[in-house]
Amino acid sequence: MRIAYLNPCGKWGGAETSLRELLASVRQAEPSWELWLLLAEDGPLARIAEELGVRVAVVPFPPALAKLGDAASSGGPWPLLRAGIATLNYARGLARWLRQVKPDIIHTNGFKMHLLGARARPRKTPLVWHIHDYVGSRRLAGRLLRWLGGSCNVAVVNSNSVASDVQRLLPALRTVTIYNAIDVERFSPSGATIDLDAAAGLAPAGEGSIRVGLVATFARWKGHQVFLDALTRLPSDVPVRGYIIGGPIYQTDGSQWSLEELRQKVEGLQLTGKVGFTGFLDDPAAAMRSLDVIIHASTAPEPFGMVIIEGMACGKPVIASQAGGAAELFVDGKNALGYPPGDADMLAGQITRLARDPDLRHRIGEAARATAERTYQGQRLAQELTAVYRDLSGAGIELARAGTPHSSLPKGASRRAG
Ligand code: GLC
Repeated sequence: MRIAYLNPCGKWGGAETSLRELLASVRQAEPSWELWLLLAEDGPLARIAEELGVRVAVVPFPPALAKLGDAASSGGPWPLLRAGIATLNYARGLARWLRQVKPDIIHTNGFKMHLLGARARPRKTPLVWHIHDYVGSRRLAGRLLRWLGGSCNVAVVNSNSVASDVQRLLPALRTVTIYNAIDVERFSPSGATIDLDAAAGLAPAGEGSIRVGLVATFARWKGHQVFLDALTRLPSDVPVRGYIIGGPIYQTDGSQWSLEELRQKVEGLQLTGKVGFTGFLDDPAAAMRSLDVIIHASTAPEPFGMVIIEGMACGKPVIASQAGGAAELFVDGKNALGYPPGDADMLAGQITRLARDPDLRHRIGEAARATAERTYQGQRLAQELTAVYRDLSGAGIELARAGTPHSSLPKGASRRAG
């Protein structure tokens, strides 16, 4: 089996973390399969995939395509037109690459690659869209996916919540929920830690300080504002120091905070010295082990939330914004704590509860680790995903044998497996 993975971004976002674990799990379960990865941006993912034995090609997007996002699509017709032309050109190059690689399956990660994959796929090669985000809420992407949905055989989605969203948009598309996995050896309760104060350029936190950290990219909806607001609402006897771990990653305009904006917020809320910015840390597991409580603060329903399962696997109590796919990952009060998205008061309440109760932190942390070992490890993911691939490649062979021309299949039903 030869699989070609297509991914737009080379840096670490959730979809890239998910892809890395996916590649590692498939590689381990099926060492003889040939895995290829085409990235539209160079970065750490390229090197890590190579180390896993994946054959990597980096073919950058032209700038007009790299910069286009839903936020930019309100900027008038010209950026869209330029991006449209750039997309068609890129799709032609991609089609050539796919003809050379001759994959049995094409697996795309990220909206731009879903669209490009649908345009560029060789006629009989099954296409898997790995959908990590809600499509219904994205105006341009949603429309384009609906338009090209007939070219996709299966949508693999990261939660049942995303599955419902995809089914609303594309009722005829076969949708399979496969929860993400993480390396539970790497994200584990014991191992290296980091001096977060030094990383953030702060003086050491006082004795007995509870370290509470938001680990996220700087996308606006990741809830930095809610986290900071919650920190201002803690009772004065709760000795908490906050950490913002992560940074901006996207090339898209208008969708993320800058460090400067967040620093100004900290100052405006009189939190100077109580919150540190560490930037991205190379070893997120070590960062999580160095925290007492991990915060997930997305203001909109989170499709999945890698940080939640990473924190759980590190044996830490996570306080998660309980909506969307994120709400499927834990049982509130048992292996994590939940609160309604955007509710800074409730978040402050949960931080206070954990800060005051070391036993509760311990209990939730232990239960969280057990859940991660059971549910969020790579073997389970590989089993579920390779079953989809096998099913599809069989179906692809049958279609090829029957010589069925795609154009004669009903729209939305073409090249579907099973
Ligand atoms: C996207 C989603 C996030 C999810 C990740 C991996 O980044 O927004 O919720 O954890 O993909 O599936």
